[in-house]
Amino acid sequence: MNMRVPTLRRDDDCDELAALCKAGGDPLRLKVLRVLASDSFGVLELAQIFAIGQSGISHHLKVLAQAGLVATRREGNAIFYRRALPAAAGFAGTLRAALLAEVDALELEAAIRARVAEVHAQRAAVSRDFFSRMADKFQAQQDLIAGLPQYRDSLLALLDAQAFADSACALEVGPGDGALLPELARRFARVTALDNSPAMLELARQRCARECLENVELKLADALQESPDSADCVVLNMVLHHFAAPAEALQRLAGRVRRGGSLLLTELCRHDQDWAREACGDLWLGFDQDELARWAAQAGLEPGDSLYIGLRNGFQIQIRHFARTTAGAGERQRTP
Ligand SMILES: C[S@@+](CC[C@H](N)C(=O)[O-])C[C@H]1O[C@@H](n2cnc3c(N)ncnc32)[C@H](O)[C@@H]1O
Repeated sequence: MNMRVPTLRRDDDCDELAALCKAGGDPLRLKVLRVLASDSFGVLELAQIFAIGQSGISHHLKVLAQAGLVATRREGNAIFYRRALPAAAGFAGTLRAALLAEVDALELEAAIRARVAEVHAQRAAVSRDFFSRMADKFQAQQDLIAGLPQYRDSLLALLDAQAFADSACALEVGPGDGALLPELARRFARVTALDNSPAMLELARQRCARECLENVELKLADALQESPDSADCVVLNMVLHHFAAPAEALQRLAGRVRRGGSLLLTELCRHDQDWAREACGDLWLGFDQDELARWAAQAGLEPGDSLYIGLRNGFQIQIRHFARTTAGAGERQRTP
């Protein structure tokens, strides 16, 4: 007979288990965990979301951190809290997973959801304001970190490695001054480009006119609010770090990729150059490679090839290809 031998635990494990139970034993802490399911927030943002003082929320975050449920992530001078990843050989993994599964099923009350939206709107306003003020200096600002010429060939090599049909269409989110549009227009039957900055879209319009790009349609729209048309290839070139809630944005935009299609994403790898916020309007200082892969998987995409390019100024660029093998949300809405 197969007898299950219970694993003997050390005394410290008991402390770990108690910390986990303590962390889960407070409704506010459970709601904090719920809010952190797909985003990271600073202490002040969390204080705003839960309408409590900074010291109160700091106390709860400390308890959650002691239980290994949240971790910090430094973004230049700012500290953001996110869900901690489960430790590979972690103790109480079953209880932890069950707790988070229950937390994820919680529906947050409307007031909290409204304040999360408020925080996202504040972040998005910073980004919009930057592009409306800086359109005339856009290229110079881009070149401070990474200009398209530095990674264009790699990006196009990855794009050309995907066999798109002659009739395939592309959607570029946040085309900026449209530097990539001529390349997309050459490769796709139709290209739609969405940007929420009138000043940036005007630069893109001028480029399309100069280069006679007749198959490109420019739309002034917030990519996260526009009706969800789908495309064979969705391109996010150096734009995700300008989104208020990047994981949620990736989820929404991945829904626009048609079955069999691709999402091509160029981003900075995580860095600590805080000046990029001020100089380039960046809301996030790049992303971890694993973090992007996890968000893409949660959005129903499968990882493809990736290229990493180190720049002489110390920044590193990641060019990632993700594929959709199931129908995207945009498609499901279009085909009853
Ligand atoms: C750094 S620029 C990248 C431009 C271009 N893709 C490139 O690499 O040269 C980011 C662009 O995304 C646009 N953007 C930011 N948030 C957006 C949103 N929610 N919807 C549409 N466009 C957005 C900005 O207006 C800006 O033009």
